[in-house]
Parts: sequence; structure tokens; C-alpha cells
Amino acid sequence: VIAGAPALNAALIGQPDGRARLETPALLLDLDAFEHNVARLAALAAEAGIGLLPHAKTHKSARIAKAQLAAGARAIGCAKAGELLALRAAGVGPLVLTAPVASRAKIAALARAAAEAPTGVVIDRPELAAAYGAATREASTTLDAYIDLDVGLGRFGVATPAEAVAIGRAILAEPGLRYAGVQAYQGLVQHIHGFAERAAANDAANAKLGAILDALAGAGMPATIVSGGGTGSHLLDARRRLLTEIQAGSYIFMDEGYQPVDFHGDGAPVFRTSLFVAVTVVAHSAPGFAITDAGSKSLAVDGPPPRVFRDGVEIGRIQWCGDEYGRVLPHPGQAAPPVGTVLECTVPHCDPTVNLHDAYHAVRGTVLEGIWPVEARGRAD
Ligand SMILES: Cc1ncc(COP(=O)(O)O)c(C=O)c1O
Repeated sequence: VIAGAPALNAALIGQPDGRARLETPALLLDLDAFEHNVARLAALAAEAGIGLLPHAKTHKSARIAKAQLAAGARAIGCAKAGELLALRAAGVGPLVLTAPVASRAKIAALARAAAEAPTGVVIDRPELAAAYGAATREASTTLDAYIDLDVGLGRFGVATPAEAVAIGRAILAEPGLRYAGVQAYQGLVQHIHGFAERAAANDAANAKLGAILDALAGAGMPATIVSGGGTGSHLLDARRRLLTEIQAGSYIFMDEGYQPVDFHGDGAPVFRTSLFVAVTVVAHSAPGFAITDAGSKSLAVDGPPPRVFRDGVEIGRIQWCGDEYGRVLPHPGQAAPPVGTVLECTVPHCDPTVNLHDAYHAVRGTVLEGIWPVEARGRAD
């Protein structure tokens, strides 16, 4: 059951000016920009002959996952077991959990989830292979298993060929696990602004990955799927072709953190900003600024401050003003908007912003086309 602003906004669906009349704060998805982004990366990957494993940590939405699968994605990545289980319950097909877990109950639930649709897991230690193997026996299912590699992030995964081979052997020893390949996510590369600097960092990660892939092949365990990369490295990965698929997440939305990244080395934009939070000016404290109804409970603050748009024109930036409020600082020459004005803010960081909302307000032009639940909201478990 969706309450609050999304419930009040349901009456605006299909109205010609619904976008401008939203109850706020409201998470807003510009469908033209979103569809452009999905199609752009799908076309780029198809042209390069590389696959896609779009990451649901960004959107937590069954509707969006299904759009990505319809555009040719092999499967959808999930960051947490709870996220995967919520999307599976909402009818999403092939899913891959891109992080190891350390809980018997979650391992059992993931093995059971494989009864409904293909399910993949990453494994960073032989004991985890044994635990997943036991759970698949219990559930009479099969899980796709990927050796998790650390190619520089220092978060999880193994960093040496010998450890990778040991995990591969542990996977092959379990009848309920199907050895699918490796995951190597180069997280530190993604947000490097300059193309050449990012390319150099990606090359360094790929050198580590290449050595491990050689060792696995030498041990009779060649990796069929080599999964990794993201929005920042997508073109580098498509050209290099060491990965067989790109795990891009943020490309569908484009947040402020990704705005300065020169994706293709020519300074030209590749993806359009599709995600906003609609806010209302609720108080006007002094000339030169206005107070909105959205603070850190509506917009994640771990990124550059939002830009603010009024009727499609950028009028300023938001300065944080507490949990529930923001202060519009107008650009030179722009007036502070009057109380009652609905504005649209870009988001500092898309993933945690989405996690603050129950629903997307899907808009096309000035029309509210639909309200889509964020099924995996809060599923950081
Ligand atoms: C394992 C993994 N894959 C893919 C992604 C998606 O990255 P991006 O949003 O930069 O495309 C992330 C993001 O943190 C991640 O942790």
C-alpha cells in the first residue's frame, strides 16, 4: 500500500499538467530520458558484442529491471539478498547477487529463490561454496556460482590466482552449483573524471583480472562469464572486451556524482538526467533564497548538491537545511520562487536517494503517466 504523496498523486495520472501539480517531495522519473539511457547502453553493448548485467542497487524496481531485460540484459544484479528476494517476489527473472553473504538463513533463502528463476551468487571463500552447496541440496535447486575477485577495490573477493583456483575447485565440488565464471568489480575506477586517467586505472585492474583468468584457464576452469565494470568504465570495458558483461547501474538516471565524468573522452554527454525529486517552496525566509520541503530524508546528501529547475530552466542549487528542508540559492539573475512553486531537483547520488522513496512518479513531458513502486526500498538486508 502506497500512502502519502504517491497516493495523493494517483488522481493526477493522465492529466495534461500532472507533473507541475505533484504533491511533494516526489521521486520523479523522466521517461523520455530514462528510455534514451536504457537504449543507449544496450545499443553500445550490442555493437561492441559485450553483454549487460544492469545493477538493481540503483533502482530497486521490478518495472525498471524488466525494461532492462527487455532491452537485452542477460540478468539483473542485486547488492543484497533482501534486494534480490524482493525483486524475485515482484516477478523479475534472472538475478545475480553480486556480494558474498555470511548468513545461513540468507543462503537458504537464495537457494530456494532459484526454484523460480535462474539465480546467481558470488563466492569469496571455499566455505561459502560449501554452504551454498548444502542449501541447494536442501532446496533441490541449482545456483549459478561466480568466483568473486578483488581487482583493487579492497571490499570483497580474492586477489590472487591461487585463491581463485581454490574457490573454483570448491564450486566444482558442489553438484548444486554451476560454475559460471567470475565477478571483478572495479569500483574505484568508475568516478574518475578524466577519460585518460580512468582508462589507466581500468587497465591496472584488468591486468590483475587477466592474470587470474589465465590461471583459471590453466587449471581447467575457464570463466565463461566475466562480470564487472559500471557506468564510468562502460566504454573502456566494451573496447577492451576482457569482461563479457558490464554491471552498469547509474547510467539509467545520471546523478550529480556522475555529471563531471567524461564518459567517452570527447566531453559530450552520453546519458541524460532522468531522475529528479520534485519539491515545493513552503517558506520564504528572506530575499535571495527560498525554503523547500525536501531535506536529507528525500535526497541523499553523499554527493554534490542538487541543481534546481523551474519549468525546465535551471534556477539555482540546493543548500542543505536539515532533515526535512532545503534552501534554494538562486543563480545570479534568477529570482527566489514564491511559496507554493513546485521545483525539480537533480539528485546528489541516485542509489540512496531512490531508497528514501516508496514510488517513482513516471512522467513524460508534462504528463504523469504512472506511479511505480520501489519494491526493494529499504531492502538493505
Ligand atoms: C558490484 C557493483 N556492480 C555494479 C555497480 C554499479 O555501478 P555504477 O552505478 O557506477 O554503474 C556497483 C555500484 O556500486 C557495484 O557495487
